[in-house]
Amino acid sequence: MKCTVCRGPAVIDVRRHNAAFCPEHFTLHCRDQVRRALHEHAMLRPIDRVLVAVSGGKDSLALWDLLAALDVDADGLHLRLGIGDYSEESTRAARAYATAHARTLHEVDLAGEVGFTVPAAAAATHRVPCSACGLSKRHLFNGFAVEHGYDVVATGHNLDDEAAVLLGNVLRWETEYLARQAPVLPAGAGFARKVKPLVRLGERELAAYCVIRRIDYQVEECPMAAGNRHLSYKELLNELEHRSPGTKGAFLAGFFERGRARFATDEPAVPLRRCVECGAPTPSEVCAFCRLRARVAERP
Ligand code: AMP
Ligand code: FES
Ligand code: ZN
Ligand code: ZN
Repeated sequence: MKCTVCRGPAVIDVRRHNAAFCPEHFTLHCRDQVRRALHEHAMLRPIDRVLVAVSGGKDSLALWDLLAALDVDADGLHLRLGIGDYSEESTRAARAYATAHARTLHEVDLAGEVGFTVPAAAAATHRVPCSACGLSKRHLFNGFAVEHGYDVVATGHNLDDEAAVLLGNVLRWETEYLARQAPVLPAGAGFARKVKPLVRLGERELAAYCVIRRIDYQVEECPMAAGNRHLSYKELLNELEHRSPGTKGAFLAGFFERGRARFATDEPAVPLRRCVECGAPTPSEVCAFCRLRARVAERP
């Protein structure tokens, strides 16, 4: 297998692009995909202060690294979720990257600063752990950004993640979610802009990027996510991609280009006010995060 660019020995093929790359040109390919995503979706302005949500996994560490290569000087935010050894190892990887590259990494320890861990929240809700976890993450990313003057929160959601979420939303015709599934969510009162610069890169490419760049990352999947529906959607999409390379990318890119706008409605947005407990924007008196916190506190 030869590099499509320089004809030197290739270390990875990317069938979706009908290409193979040597380490150097693969690194450039990844940068180019992020540059294109930033540009296509007008994700960042030169003056923006950017906060990267860094889990310690391959996607968010690759994102932090790729943004720096594109001269985007972002700080990191890591949430310590309290999921046993899994969280300990994730924190270790996030800190190791920050130290090695002299980057600022903010940390929020859920148990100490919020008063609950993800396992405790999951137990209190009787729903899949990922729903309380996702709600908490979104709330804390946004709250931290707003409080500390960051304009944008960038997350490591990749092509596989977004295509799996899209498939789930389509299978149930979740029209409201479809209207909101976007690579950029604009800022609003009390909301920083949210961007997903990795929407053009797949999981396999991001793992290879970390190996080539010698980025040490948390390899384990979250133990609480086992049985999550999105994992089976990813398998299905991989099967389709294997038979017909490019399917996954076309599914997601086509939705962003031609599908999503059709789900937008003219109905006025629900008016938001400030949560009486934490000040976050919310349609109700107390925001969903503070309600979750109260439920966890009620448990013996
Ligand atoms: P996940 O929800 O685990 O699929 O992660 C999606 C994205 O959310 C990651 O790529 C990160 O950008 C961010 N993220 C997930 N977990 C954490 C964490 N513990 N701390 C900071 N960011 C996180
Ligand atoms: Fe959220 Fe596992 S990281 S449930
Ligand atoms: Zn090459
Ligand atoms: Zn609140």
